[in-house]
Amino acid sequence: MSSYVITGVSRGIGFEFVRQLSENPANVVFGLVRNKAAVDSKVAAEIGRKNIHIIQADTTDPEALKNAAEYVSKKTNGTLDYIIANAALQAKTALVGFDTLSSGPKALEQDLIDHFRVNTIGAVHLFNIFVPLILRGQAKKVIAISTGISDTEMTLKADIFQATAYSISKAALNMAIAKFSAVYREKGVLFMAICPGAVDTGSLQIETEEEGKLAMAMFGKFKEYSPSFQGPTRPEDAVKSVLALVNKATVDSGYAGVFLSHTEGKPYL
Ligand SMILES: NC(=O)c1ccc[n+]([C@@H]2O[C@H](COP(=O)([O-])OP(=O)(O)OC[C@H]3O[C@@H](n4cnc5c(N)ncnc54)[C@H](OP(=O)(O)O)[C@@H]3O)[C@@H](O)[C@H]2O)c1
Repeated sequence: MSSYVITGVSRGIGFEFVRQLSENPANVVFGLVRNKAAVDSKVAAEIGRKNIHIIQADTTDPEALKNAAEYVSKKTNGTLDYIIANAALQAKTALVGFDTLSSGPKALEQDLIDHFRVNTIGAVHLFNIFVPLILRGQAKKVIAISTGISDTEMTLKADIFQATAYSISKAALNMAIAKFSAVYREKGVLFMAICPGAVDTGSLQIETEEEGKLAMAMFGKFKEYSPSFQGPTRPEDAVKSVLALVNKATVDSGYAGVFLSHTEGKPYL
């Protein structure tokens, strides 16, 4: 049996992690969400397996995370095998760059703080609170879902000016992973950040024609970065690929603390 804690499982990639990992009845999957009632209903309707536990926990709330860890601990006898820090904020400010955002310094500051709070600090709290369970687990793997656009090389290759706060917060997340690894590698815990590629989850929730145009411009940048890029993949395929890497990677085989694409190579797309 393997046990998994995954954040942000209400939709998109997180929901798909729950679906795939719960396929093995010997696994127990704990999904952390902000609206338990809604996700319980969705899981019951679309997956319907008894080895899934949905727990109310906003990842920016350390008390909620502590309660979640207590719940998990009771179910697993104080152990945990895997953490997947998947929850993230990517606001629609991602569609434009600093030149546009500079017109509202206060709003820009708040946007940076909001992304940092969810994408970086939320993961840091999650890791600190659950690591005692991980240390008593078998697999001892802690994964952060990151993104290629947190890589300066990708950004500079096609002057990708979009996704400012998101990219900055994920670059900080990659460093947090390295710092956690620096503490826990010697205790046998793998900390690793993985980019799942571009995945069709509708996370930007495009509503207007103008937003559609800006999103197309961002995809144009992705194509400029990687001319073979054909558009986003399905969550099913992305999650399968990320999990293959999670299963393969170990502390002793050179993966401790690194940030990699799910393909292990570049380009990310
Ligand atoms: N999609 C892509 O192309 C892509 C590419 C590279 C990396 N990624 C990364 O992959 C991960 C999943 O992406 P996605 O596309 O599936 O995103 P998504 O559809 O926007 O889903 C984000 C999830 O995070 C949850 N969440 C946000 N803030 C939270 C908080 N404070 N506490 C708990 N949960 C919170 C959301 O829950 P609510 O329902 O409550 O809002 C939702 O379940 C993210 O880390 C993202 O950065 C995605």
